[in-house]
Amino acid sequence: MYPYNIFRQEAGVSAEAEKNENKPQRKNKKKPQDKRPQTPPSSQKPPSNMPRPSIIDEKILDMILEAIADERGDAEYYAKLTHMAKSQEEKNILNGIRMDEQKHEKIFRRIYSMLTGKEASVETKLKKVGNNLRDEYRKSVFEELETVEFYKKMYIALKSQDIRNMLYDIITDEQSHATKLTYLLTT
Ligand SMILES: [Fe+2]
Ligand SMILES: [Fe+2]
Repeated sequence: MYPYNIFRQEAGVSAEAEKNENKPQRKNKKKPQDKRPQTPPSSQKPPSNMPRPSIIDEKILDMILEAIADERGDAEYYAKLTHMAKSQEEKNILNGIRMDEQKHEKIFRRIYSMLTGKEASVETKLKKVGNNLRDEYRKSVFEELETVEFYKKMYIALKSQDIRNMLYDIITDEQSHATKLTYLLTT
């Protein structure tokens, strides 16, 4: 059993507040065992180094599945833009972004396997592609920046430094995608 007072401490209830809150009840209690320390026996303590199985962990897995679907959709999206682009420079830049998105999908799949021991199964999220390339670049700059914010939240939620390092590289790539698309808008 997980003692009540430990829950209270973890929920941010201070020892002083706890003391005041319990004062009236304690006044009436005369049994000696009421004065025993509230610390649970060591066998009942949760191991401090163990990640807690929780809603947060489930949430991270959902975020990773969403990222896999997004990355796959993005790779297909940039493949279409590469095809639409007129100049070789544009094609090279867009194709470079497409290859990065493919690499990201693989990395997220690896992260998912590391965390669950299972293969990720997701449906591809296909993105609509308009006829005007400049409109697509404009829209994509903001989508890349939103992706950066999404991955930063994931970075904070993850505990493993190895996985954080993998995610850090992806975040850097997404920031560079936003910069490259901004450059394409100036040409
Ligand atoms: Fe990506
Ligand atoms: Fe990207």
